[in-house]
Amino acid sequence: MAKINDNFLKLKAGYLFPEISKRVRNFSDSNPGKRIIRLGIGDVTLPLVPTVVKALKDASDEMGTSAGFKGYGPEQGYGFLIDEIIKHDFQSRGVQLSSDEVFVSDGSKCDTGNIQEIFSLSSKIAVTDPVYPVYVDTNVMAGRTGNSGSDGKYEKLIYLPCTSENNFQPDFPKERADLIYLCYPNNPTGTTVTKERLKEWVDYARKNNSIILYDAAYEGFITDSSLPHSIFEIEGAKEVAIEFRSFSKTAGFTGTRCAYIVVPKELKGESESGEKVSINSLWNRRHTTKFNGVSYPIQKAAAACYSDSGKKEISANINYYMENARIIREGISALGIQVYGGVNAPYIWLKTPGNATSWDFFDRLLNEVQVVGTPGSGFGPSGEGYFRLSAFGKREDVEEAVQKIKSLKL
Ligand code: MLT
Repeated sequence: MAKINDNFLKLKAGYLFPEISKRVRNFSDSNPGKRIIRLGIGDVTLPLVPTVVKALKDASDEMGTSAGFKGYGPEQGYGFLIDEIIKHDFQSRGVQLSSDEVFVSDGSKCDTGNIQEIFSLSSKIAVTDPVYPVYVDTNVMAGRTGNSGSDGKYEKLIYLPCTSENNFQPDFPKERADLIYLCYPNNPTGTTVTKERLKEWVDYARKNNSIILYDAAYEGFITDSSLPHSIFEIEGAKEVAIEFRSFSKTAGFTGTRCAYIVVPKELKGESESGEKVSINSLWNRRHTTKFNGVSYPIQKAAAACYSDSGKKEISANINYYMENARIIREGISALGIQVYGGVNAPYIWLKTPGNATSWDFFDRLLNEVQVVGTPGSGFGPSGEGYFRLSAFGKREDVEEAVQKIKSLKL
């Protein structure tokens, strides 16, 4: 019989979001007709903006003509999209990139999950805790960890706790880490990092020869102009960081799929024999071997996000979600519950009332008022006792959810 990859057996239960869907489905089956409000997974609800839809349609029409038809495109992405990305997302912030440092893909989940492949299995990994589960699970699958203990932690993984006690700012790892995953604005806590603190991280990585895997999928939600949108705004970061960006949350592409990753040419790793190797070349080799590129109409749609009308329409959608965030934040906080995030990020992180466990609070909200959130412990052991609400819902759902939570005896 074929042997399986035993590392998969180390994974805890199901992936977080399917597990939540299962519980919601079970509730629905036994309570048919009850309306459920979903503020769990961070999935957008507003439709694609008109400028994006037009680009999508035009490009599809083009594909139906012999002059405009395209087969395989460049695996790394079309130049027309990469040029817009560099100009609007980086040059506008004083960051210079060349086109072969940007790789277009079909999502940050895949990118943040796949990146570990080009690093040694002996790499020491540090993650903030709580954390987006993909970073952890993909390293478990690859075999970089041991089993998970009764404390919910995988052996050999370095956890950097982020709780209200340290204002959700992780300390540097106590032991040296090869790869450090950081996500700002943070999923799940909705908290941010200042330029000063990010500079300390870059300096730390330079001193310790570590690489920072910087997930900036939520940078579009930053409202405080002093906060960094890219790690490359920090001097020296190109030698120690890879950045992940996505059109999913900012432009409503969760179902459309487009993202990109920036791998600077200055970034080097080391082979077993001690030779310095370009991480950009390795990623290029991996990407072009395993990926055939995002479809032409989708890349045209992504490029349209950078047009004047695209920017304006997208910014209105972001404002809508951030108004939802305000409604949730203020509504929950008025109940005397401690809330975090929701100012520069579309997630509100709250302390569960009465010291309830995260899953108990999840079950209570589901059973008593039919509001679905995400249990903090699903993001890691330091998330226990916290709960995440997403601001990506429809306005009327968000308002109703807050009213319903207010009706609970907490
Ligand atoms: C979340 O809810 O944390 C995100 O939607 C997950 C994702 O982007 O894959």
